Amino acid sequence: MGRTRTAITSILFAAASVSALADAQVQEDAAAERAAETESRMTNEERTNLTLGLMAMEFAGVKSPEGSIPGAGYVPGVPRLGVPALRETDASLGVTWIGGARGDGATALPSGTAQGSTWNPELIELGGQTIGAEARLKGFNVLLAGGINLMREPRNGRTFEYLGEDPWHSAILGAAAVKGIQSQNVISTMKHFAINPQETGRHFMNVKIDGASLRESDLLAFEIAIERAEPGALMCAYNRTNGPLSCGSKFLLTDVLRDDWGYKGFVMSDWGAVEALDFALAGLDQQSGAQLDEDLFFGEPLLEAASSDPRYRERLGEMVRNILHAIYAVGIGDAVPEKTDEEAPNGGEVALKVAQEGIVLLRNEGGALPLSPDIGSIAVIGGHADAGTPSGGGSSRVMGDDGPSIAIPFLRDGGSGFAALFDRMYHGSAPLDAIREMAKDARVTFRDGRYPSEAALAAAQADVAIVFATQYQTEGFDVPDLSLPGGQDALIAAVAAANPNTIVVLETGGPVVMPWLDDVAGVVEAWYAGARGGEAIADILFGKVNPSGHLPITFPASLDQLPRPQLDGAETVEPGFLGRGEPGQTLEADYTIEGSDIGYRWFARKGEAALFPFGHGLSYTSFEHGKLALAHGDDGITARFEMRNTGERTGADVAQLYLISGPEGPKQRLVGFAKQALEPGETAAVDLTLDPRLLGEWEEGGWHVASGEYRFALGHSAEALGAVQSLGLPEIRLDASGHPVVKN
Ligand code: BGC
Repeated sequence: MGRTRTAITSILFAAASVSALADAQVQEDAAAERAAETESRMTNEERTNLTLGLMAMEFAGVKSPEGSIPGAGYVPGVPRLGVPALRETDASLGVTWIGGARGDGATALPSGTAQGSTWNPELIELGGQTIGAEARLKGFNVLLAGGINLMREPRNGRTFEYLGEDPWHSAILGAAAVKGIQSQNVISTMKHFAINPQETGRHFMNVKIDGASLRESDLLAFEIAIERAEPGALMCAYNRTNGPLSCGSKFLLTDVLRDDWGYKGFVMSDWGAVEALDFALAGLDQQSGAQLDEDLFFGEPLLEAASSDPRYRERLGEMVRNILHAIYAVGIGDAVPEKTDEEAPNGGEVALKVAQEGIVLLRNEGGALPLSPDIGSIAVIGGHADAGTPSGGGSSRVMGDDGPSIAIPFLRDGGSGFAALFDRMYHGSAPLDAIREMAKDARVTFRDGRYPSEAALAAAQADVAIVFATQYQTEGFDVPDLSLPGGQDALIAAVAAANPNTIVVLETGGPVVMPWLDDVAGVVEAWYAGARGGEAIADILFGKVNPSGHLPITFPASLDQLPRPQLDGAETVEPGFLGRGEPGQTLEADYTIEGSDIGYRWFARKGEAALFPFGHGLSYTSFEHGKLALAHGDDGITARFEMRNTGERTGADVAQLYLISGPEGPKQRLVGFAKQALEPGETAAVDLTLDPRLLGEWEEGGWHVASGEYRFALGHSAEALGAVQSLGLPEIRLDASGHPVVKN
């Protein structure tokens, strides 16, 4: 038994101190003042130039703009006024690869889902710092990062890019990433504003959702994340929300973002998301990737409109001031950073750490894991485990300098020049090598898994079989269901029948169903594990690192448990994003079904048990939570409790605090969490301050927490809840910007 000591840890998610707020206000005013001053000295042509972003890559005969380096976008600066050009690159997982066009690679962090599974804002902030530093070294000053759309549709082909299904969890981690990036004097976006739920019909689908549910789900994630990280830019989404396209939605871009939240940075469009000049009047500040649109609306047409129409003249000034505000507030300097071939010195270490903390141990029967380094023989099967770990596809793809260890074509090019973005690529950190390294004396065999009979034979001859099972996700294509593709379920079943000591390592973008679950000893969700993924997987399998990842998304037992058992548009829309659909084509998505009850909240409402619930994650040690103490006073609504390692190994626990009912009845919501590393026998005290918006409802232009009894429980997951504690609250009202409404 380890020693017993008490570490008092205070994890406060409270408002910043008064002096920090005052400092921020001074900086804020200075940025606003300087932006106004610079803007006033510009010609209309210079102003317009700053609002038009072009693709910075060669494709289908389109040339890159002068001064750009291969990346996502380029906006020319105004050198005579010391306004730098904006060199933009994707994204949240690192500086992207774009088919190797830049001649160098970059540090590939694990997927967003893996990052979300860490539940560790400090680590995610470090990841942001790493990729922000690297972006600058490579000559970029804008990262198109901060993807925080909630995983409302688990079949979304971009699930792997996002952090999770819960507004508070996504906001805390998303804000941490953006803070990290911007600490390197690189502007970060948050995206895609607001709901960007799936790829099928992404350019024309219309999300129907009631105002309150919208405020309490995706918008709440953005609202909290923006408050905490102050991203220089926001990227609006492709889809329609309650009618208008997101980048032309006055409701989203002006009423909510500016009037309610007082956002000071600029809104750039997604690439090819602008359909008219008047998107400027709705609140869009910059047209991006404009060659993908039908016109360079924010070029000549905007210049002309600004010289004849006062509404455009006024908006143009405002658009430019918003862009300059970001440039000054984030401090990106007055010239584009010099391009070098360097990568962040600690990039590999950070990628490894994120992978180690992001891998989730889902099942471990009879202590099948960790494996002993003295094991006699192991059969490794499938998933190209001999070559590396998978990367997701599309605009977020990052590769190391050497490029992919294997690349499997996914699309016929057809002349677009884009096909390589979708190839199934693998990072070169091979789990097979790392396993061999861990179990030096073991006989380790590999079978590629194409033939279940061959794999079963190898499994039968080994002490343990480890099957690597992959689900490829890429921007542009949803997955039609949640099964493992390509006969992998049959492969796992055959291996499990041959050897009961079968461990399945999932390398998926999002949740999958597991018909073979009862027949295998262990399941590890490794997601897309990034530059050092193979090592991280072996570290977890052999217990060099104690798993501490927890699911950021619900794994359903079957599609029938979802609000939409069938993907919207599956019958009517051709898969793939390269087309915008037929003129006038629509796809109506009815999100009033679940409203703001995404993921575990939907399961709680329906009384359904998930295959693996949100928040679930096992460890090689065990943890207990002490009694929950709740209070409401001058410090707001607070919770205090202890976390204790009751097992034999050092490990990290994620305590999750859930609201389980309010005065109106049951409703489950994550209202706080804490990740804590603990030695055996160690106890840590945790303090949380709860954001009243998580308890309340959106009503009549603000937030309303009804007076009455609120019941809470600490959980190891959304379904493994401890003792219930109650707290009586008076009525609380907050305005649309989240500030308390003071009654006269
Ligand atoms: C994606 C964005 C990305 C942009 C630029 C779009 O296809 O939706 O997330 O930032 O491309 O590459």
